[in-house]
Amino acid sequence: MEFKTLPHSPELYEYALTHSLPLDDISRDLVRETHEALGPGEVTMQVSPEQASLLTLLTKLVGARTAVEVGTFTGLSSLSIARGLPADGRLICFDISEEYTSVARRYWERAGVDKQIELRIGPAAENLRTLPAEPHLDLVFIDADKVGYPAYWAELVPRMRPGGLLIVDNVLRHGYVLEPRNEADRAIAAFNDIVAADDRVEAVLLPLADGITLARRR
Ligand SMILES: C[S@@+](CC[C@H](N)C(=O)[O-])C[C@H]1O[C@@H](n2cnc3c(N)ncnc32)[C@H](O)[C@@H]1O
Repeated sequence: MEFKTLPHSPELYEYALTHSLPLDDISRDLVRETHEALGPGEVTMQVSPEQASLLTLLTKLVGARTAVEVGTFTGLSSLSIARGLPADGRLICFDISEEYTSVARRYWERAGVDKQIELRIGPAAENLRTLPAEPHLDLVFIDADKVGYPAYWAELVPRMRPGGLLIVDNVLRHGYVLEPRNEADRAIAAFNDIVAADDRVEAVLLPLADGITLARRR
């Protein structure tokens, strides 16, 4: 069988970026600050530039007004989602770190989206339960601790309105879903099986960045 997905060279990746919706100056500054302030292990937590642009585009395509993010870090993905919301749209962010999200708060303010974003600090599995139980969410982005994904999925899918979009990052674990090295790899492999068998959604796992699943609530 012939595979149509190209292996990426750095040059081809750069070409794709220069032919995509570019990051604005504020997002670029956030990427730079995150890279300068944090070590290589932490920096990789940030979504890639093309994922950031994709989040803005998907938020607009879905016409999202009410969105949730699980795993905010220094704020690139939340800023990208907020940029796709209408003026009266709202994003609720869940994270456990005051330190990382203090950076996010500064950039939300600078971008003028701080009034649209509410940050809830604490373990997301518990805090998600405080959301209204009925289907009201248009878009969610899951990008926190990997062992928590099944719990986040279980809390969020029933809260999605029909046609709502769930976006999940790191679903390929750099390929280690095939041969898990640790608990996080095993959790994601099990999570991917849960999503594939879940007939409440129509899902596609895209080999973009570290793997991103798009799932539409039926
Ligand atoms: C991969 S980073 C998120 C990156 C972010 N989406 C971005 O693009 O910049 C994961 C985040 O999940 C948070 N996190 C880890 N465990 C958590 C938990 N149990 N509940 C909520 N957030 C958690 C971490 O503090 C970290 O900021």
